[in-house]
Amino acid sequence: MGNQSGVTEFLILGFSDFQELKLPLFTLFLLIYLMAVLGNLLIICIVSDNRHLHTPMYFFLANLSLIDVCSLTVTVPKLLVVLLTQNNAISFSDCILQLYCYIVCIATEFMLLAVMAYDRYVAICNPLRYTIIMTRRISALLAAFSWSAGLIEPLPQAIIISRFSFCSSNEIVHFFCDFTALMKLSCTETSSIELLNIVEGVFTGLTPFVLILTSYVCIILSIMKSIHSAEGRHKAFSTCSSHLLVVILFYGTLMCIYLRPSSDYNMDNNMLVTVIFIFLIPLVNPLIYSIRNKDLKVALQKSLGRVLSLSVNKSKDKIFLVAQDNRNPRNEMI
Ligand SMILES: *[C@@H]1O[C@H](CO)[C@@H](O)[C@H](O)[C@H]1NC(C)=O
Repeated sequence: MGNQSGVTEFLILGFSDFQELKLPLFTLFLLIYLMAVLGNLLIICIVSDNRHLHTPMYFFLANLSLIDVCSLTVTVPKLLVVLLTQNNAISFSDCILQLYCYIVCIATEFMLLAVMAYDRYVAICNPLRYTIIMTRRISALLAAFSWSAGLIEPLPQAIIISRFSFCSSNEIVHFFCDFTALMKLSCTETSSIELLNIVEGVFTGLTPFVLILTSYVCIILSIMKSIHSAEGRHKAFSTCSSHLLVVILFYGTLMCIYLRPSSDYNMDNNMLVTVIFIFLIPLVNPLIYSIRNKDLKVALQKSLGRVLSLSVNKSKDKIFLVAQDNRNPRNEMI
């Protein structure tokens, strides 16, 4: 990757104003990171471990958890290193790579949330044909489409920004290589990439948003029309309320970060919302889904039960082996 200005590394200055808070912040972020990664890995394991969760809805949920793990792992470990050591440098190419991977995660999550909304739409508005429409093949295709669109679509931006020149400073006032932070540092004319950003925002953000909105309008209309008891409505809606909550959180925080007029752009506030976006959303996603979902809870108990009984059996085997070993003739001779 060549940039014209000879900047070979950036300095991540995110929390450098809080020198004495560095250790508490490190501990807090490490704990949240571990909990969020474990929670999401648990969802992936439960879904793959339980045959009756092998449905499109849970496969998509596992995909969402995978994205959460990715987006955490793209940003947080470097931040932890910066907080713990004095070394806050990141090489130019690592910085562009981090930027690219971060946008990939966001773009894929947009696509996947739309796919999940469509899945709920078919399940609620077209329940009798659900298994015909949402086959294994179709759901695999939809997931593959989300991932490939997410991987391809930030490429132009990453390539263009890697050719920018950075001349005034290499100090990133953020805790990772975020797009806006890098743009602020660049002394290249940014209007071309701003146009690209708008095009990309429409494609990755707005299109899925419109799809999600349409799905939910249809879902609500269909529930109102065909289900008359309050209890029935509640039940029908409960299968998609978790998803709706995740959508609102995701879009809400993202809009706070990136859709603000640049005049009232305040880096500190921006960093705070970004912390919420990066740490809290992956942490609460598995909670939102598992707390309100009986199938997941039952599956978790089953999987845990199996793991526990497996380890009990293993230790029994060990005792058995030791017992056999004691009956070994050589032992008798001794
Ligand atoms: C993602 O979704 C696809 C299609 O439904 C599924 O085959 C795959 O196992 C999922 N990935 C994960 C990590 O669960």
